[in-house]
Amino acid sequence: MFRILAAGLLAGAVIAPAAVTFHRDVVPILQQRCQGCHRPNDIAPMSFMTYAETRPWAKAMKEAVVSRKMPPWFADPEYAGHFTNDRSLTPKQIETLTAWVDAGAPEGNARDAPPPVQFSEGWSIGKPDMIVEYPHALDIPATGIVDQSNMLVRVNFPKDAWIGAAEVRPGNPRVVHHMKAWIRPPNSPWMKDAPEGELYKPTRAQFAAAAEEPETKGPRPVQDILAKFNPGVNAMEFTNGGAAKFVAAGSDIVFEIHYATTGKPEKDRSRVGIIFAKEPPKERYFTTMGVNTTNFVIPPGATNHEVRAESVLQAKTKLAWVQPHMHLRAKDYELRAHYPSGETQVLLKGKFDFNWQLGYEFAKPIVLPKGTRLESIAHYDNSANNKWNPNPNIEVTYGPQTTDEMSVSFMGFIIGVNDDPLALFPRGRVRQVVE
Ligand code: HEC
Repeated sequence: MFRILAAGLLAGAVIAPAAVTFHRDVVPILQQRCQGCHRPNDIAPMSFMTYAETRPWAKAMKEAVVSRKMPPWFADPEYAGHFTNDRSLTPKQIETLTAWVDAGAPEGNARDAPPPVQFSEGWSIGKPDMIVEYPHALDIPATGIVDQSNMLVRVNFPKDAWIGAAEVRPGNPRVVHHMKAWIRPPNSPWMKDAPEGELYKPTRAQFAAAAEEPETKGPRPVQDILAKFNPGVNAMEFTNGGAAKFVAAGSDIVFEIHYATTGKPEKDRSRVGIIFAKEPPKERYFTTMGVNTTNFVIPPGATNHEVRAESVLQAKTKLAWVQPHMHLRAKDYELRAHYPSGETQVLLKGKFDFNWQLGYEFAKPIVLPKGTRLESIAHYDNSANNKWNPNPNIEVTYGPQTTDEMSVSFMGFIIGVNDDPLALFPRGRVRQVVE
């Protein structure tokens, strides 16, 4: 009897510790998992830097984290490998946020809070060694569709260099829907005669010719994606395991931009920040479209139409990063490696949300022997149940507009410093897409 009573008292003592407070318990989670986006001038519409800013969102926060809508992260932990950029909350963190909201979102004592995180002036890679910016602002019309197009900046890199990290920052986030910065190698016919600083559409012939850049001694200069900006993706780190991205002397930067219009005339002057590798790289990081298909037809009303695509690797490599890219009707994505040994491994599996074009960075790059078949499997909902579906009554095929569809996997590969990036895939494959 006495013992039971004692146990009861003890349990009471455990349940009644100082209630969860904002400053002591919530701020550390916000710093680690939320403020990267929820701070002034970043992509989230509201800031969670202070108690006053956060308090009105308490109920919405609980809902968002319990449903795993926030932070945005779709890799199913049951299948996926470990990712260095995994933003998901642990069950313990979800419990803490929930307990705080249920207790009435108490503030607590500001002295209990960890020191504020210093976010560097907009750049999440840290202060760039070099910034490549449009030569002048572009005028974006008030209305209509601005075709996806490219813009050349004649950087003319003074010498061969290795890049450790890069980040695209839109000048005007209201109009930049998504964009890429490409490395344009010297001698490439692609965008060669484009007027600097103006929107320009390269021809298909230029793309085809660019896939055949001349071979040289040492690292081969090739057209390479330096960095991308999508909701949920901006900074790219290449130093995983001692790698870096190669840029040859004489290279330029080409921005590929998809603008949206806002109803009033706007201007944009975007840029890419570059941090050079601190030491000579052990390996080379190369970003390209690893798997893609243009060959599919999604019937009207289909609720779960499957599209598979594949690439067979022609040389050994390691996969460091993958970013599935599809449009409004896509709902899930899976990437499998079929090894020459006959084994199959699921590298990534999860739901897909067009509003978040997330990239997944493997904590330990996946070793892929020559002959490995990479296969993507995506499902599309072309029915009226899909709230994003612009038209459930039509057949949907490959195309550049978001009302068309795609099934693309952008990938970051790691190869030897002097290995040829173009040897990874069959010759002549057109590696560029229009997103
Ligand atoms: C990668 C950037 C990013 C991260 C990280 C992030 N958010 Fe968000 N969050 C957004 C954006 C953008 C929106 C507005 C668009 C939307 O609702 O999807 C948003 C919206 C929200 C909303 C409003 C949801 C609604 O239904 O209206 C809540 C609440 C929220 N976030 C909470 C959090 C919390 C809590 C964390 C951290 C545990 C977090 N977010 C991490 C970008 C982010």
